[in-house]
Amino acid sequence: MAFGFKVLRATIFVAGIGVLVLMYLKSSPAPKCRPPPVHSAQLTTKTDRPLMLLWFWPENKKFDFQDCKTLFQIDDCTLTDDRSLYSRAHNVLVYHAAIQDDLSNLPTSPRPKFQRWIWFNNGTHTNTSRIEGIQSLFNLTLSYRKDSDIQVRWQLTQKRNSDENFALPKKERLLCWIVDDEDLATKSGERYSYYRELIKHIKVDVFQSSSVKGDTYFLTISSCKFYLSFENSINRDYITETFNGPLASGTVPIVLGPPRKNYEDFAYGTSFIHVNDFPNALALAQFLQKLDKDNEAYMKYFNWRRFFTAIRHPTDEKHKFAHAICQACLHVGIYNNYRVVPDLNKWLLL
Ligand SMILES: *[C@@H]1O[C@H](CO)[C@@H](O)[C@H](O)[C@H]1NC(C)=O
Ligand SMILES: *[C@@H]1O[C@H](CO)[C@@H](O)[C@H](O)[C@H]1NC(C)=O
Ligand SMILES: *[C@@H]1O[C@H](CO)[C@@H](O)[C@H](O)[C@H]1NC(C)=O
Repeated sequence: MAFGFKVLRATIFVAGIGVLVLMYLKSSPAPKCRPPPVHSAQLTTKTDRPLMLLWFWPENKKFDFQDCKTLFQIDDCTLTDDRSLYSRAHNVLVYHAAIQDDLSNLPTSPRPKFQRWIWFNNGTHTNTSRIEGIQSLFNLTLSYRKDSDIQVRWQLTQKRNSDENFALPKKERLLCWIVDDEDLATKSGERYSYYRELIKHIKVDVFQSSSVKGDTYFLTISSCKFYLSFENSINRDYITETFNGPLASGTVPIVLGPPRKNYEDFAYGTSFIHVNDFPNALALAQFLQKLDKDNEAYMKYFNWRRFFTAIRHPTDEKHKFAHAICQACLHVGIYNNYRVVPDLNKWLLL
């Protein structure tokens, strides 16, 4: 516990510094920290913000660029998908999975000196296709990995008011999972085998993922005491909205994914239960049944809420990549760092 508080204090301290740095960066004159806009007179949009060209729509999931502002309060760049603005774009965001092997669908005209290319990869290293020739094309990386220049992640936000009380949502179920029925019946990944073992010892209420969207998604999760936040792929730093969902809903996530230590890089250690905290599924089931009867112990999993909030992520398909794209927009609007990313294929293997 003492350690937990130390970590929390350190986190708040670091977050505080972050806020100060952000405030400083935001208040410093814009021209100093980014390349001057070119042909600015011809741009119809606000010119004090960098222009970011989305070269491909990932999986053709289009959303309204205004949503960066309405959904995430991000308004730090001007987004466009109009390729004719290529020569003026300060940033070009390229979705990896859409790149053709021979690179023939990438921009062909010469790259302006001020332009930065951002490599966006949403896959894990196990399912990202290798493309020879993408070495030294990019200046920034955007992915779920902590060592990316821009991280895609649902981060906890610090509360302004730390004394707000948390009211536990009404609980009707013990343990739930929102998953695709067909995957559940046919797939053999680690999360499915763990689930099959677990249900021998405890009841799990399963909901079909396609029918639980929007408010229903959060309402469903909040009606459960515990939720199976089982990642579909186990990779370092790969912690997705399946973890954010219960945190945002007032439910305790049971995580299966990278090791506990990795989760603690992003969340308070007593906000979740890790399957590896137990020798087997039976021991986990027994622990959950015990917690079900011990309200005081259960409520301790929500202590982090005195200081942080988890925001609800959009659950509709069309916004699947919106957060990542808006995060990139936030980054380029604030920072001026760039580099030549040397060998992406090697980066992927690390
Ligand atoms: C990688 O695997 C995940 C999970 O199975 C899947 O959702 C995603 O579409 C895959 N991505 C690529 C690029 O194959
Ligand atoms: C890609 O991004 C979406 C939206 O954030 C997420 O649901 C999905 O799990 C991610 N990962 C892969 C491997 O597709
Ligand atoms: C971005 O990367 C390219 C390709 O490696 C490089 O030629 C260019 O100088 C880099 N741009 C900046 C602004 O650093």
